[in-house]
Amino acid sequence: MLVMEESKTELNLSLNKSAQLIENGLIKEGFKYTLDQLNEITKEMSQEQINTEIREECLNHPIANLLLQEPMTKWSNKKPRGYSGDAILIDYMYRLKSCDMQDSYLGRELYGHLSCCESVSAVRWRANHIANEIDTFQEKVGTKIDIFSVASGHLRELAYISDADHKINRFLCLDQDERSNNEVKSTYENFQFLEIIDESINHIYKRKLEGQKFDFIYSSGLFDYLNDKLASRMIEILYENLKEGGQLIIPNFKKGIEEKIYMDTFMKWNLIYRNEEDMLALSSNLNIPDIQKEIYFDDLDKVVYLKITK
Ligand SMILES: C[S@@+](CC[C@H](N)C(=O)[O-])C[C@H]1O[C@@H](n2cnc3c(N)ncnc32)[C@H](O)[C@@H]1O
Repeated sequence: MLVMEESKTELNLSLNKSAQLIENGLIKEGFKYTLDQLNEITKEMSQEQINTEIREECLNHPIANLLLQEPMTKWSNKKPRGYSGDAILIDYMYRLKSCDMQDSYLGRELYGHLSCCESVSAVRWRANHIANEIDTFQEKVGTKIDIFSVASGHLRELAYISDADHKINRFLCLDQDERSNNEVKSTYENFQFLEIIDESINHIYKRKLEGQKFDFIYSSGLFDYLNDKLASRMIEILYENLKEGGQLIIPNFKKGIEEKIYMDTFMKWNLIYRNEEDMLALSSNLNIPDIQKEIYFDDLDKVVYLKITK
């Protein structure tokens, strides 16, 4: 108890200094100092303590009025769609959505820093990587392929695939958010191969897609929310949906992300972070030979990828 009170005092002093740096125009330094101090002060704390007492302390500190001017932080904290990690937030990361006229000078500068940090760059890398993987896979197969994206959001990766009409036979997307699905429909209205399922992932757990087979299945930005049991079950079902020779790709944010603490507190955005062993463990009790599994990381070493080839 006493330790927590001491930590809160230390945190308040650190946030005072961060706010001072930011107000003095040292925005980048102030932002970095906030992250460093938060990481240091909370390094021995439980996730529960971070999500409750530390988050409350951060959001009640005057620095919150500064940091919440940053549009991604504000969007994530306010959760206009009622849940964390919606496709609009990810569009900020993709640099498809940015600041607007109402945003302050400080908000825009902070956006500049946050959108450049490595974990946000890793989100952009992920979308481009999925598109490249689809391209490579299709080239190898040589015929049009069937793809399934689970929790597809705005499906921005499709725009990175050139000549998609000649490569894709069927592109099935599933997402729970009707507004995101409508965005996909209007963005890609010319693509006849698109099929959208406006459902939660329970649709998959309830085996509504049983018997449907795909060459390429992926789910980016979903497993970071699924506990081990659900994640494992999802892999099991999606593996069944793979054709022989097909490929399943599951990215997940790695443990040890510097910005995690900022997401936990100011952004109110909790993810489940996994390392190589955690990812392999998800499929260890399934009937999938080890030889079919591959683990790799992005160039920025922020996301771990599990690739299963059937
Ligand atoms: C972080 S976004 C990722 C979107 C997209 N895959 C990407 O990489 O840009 C997470 C997406 O998962 C969807 N999602 C979250 N929970 C879901 C659930 N239980 N069922 C279906 N979709 C879900 C959200 O609606 C959101 O579009």
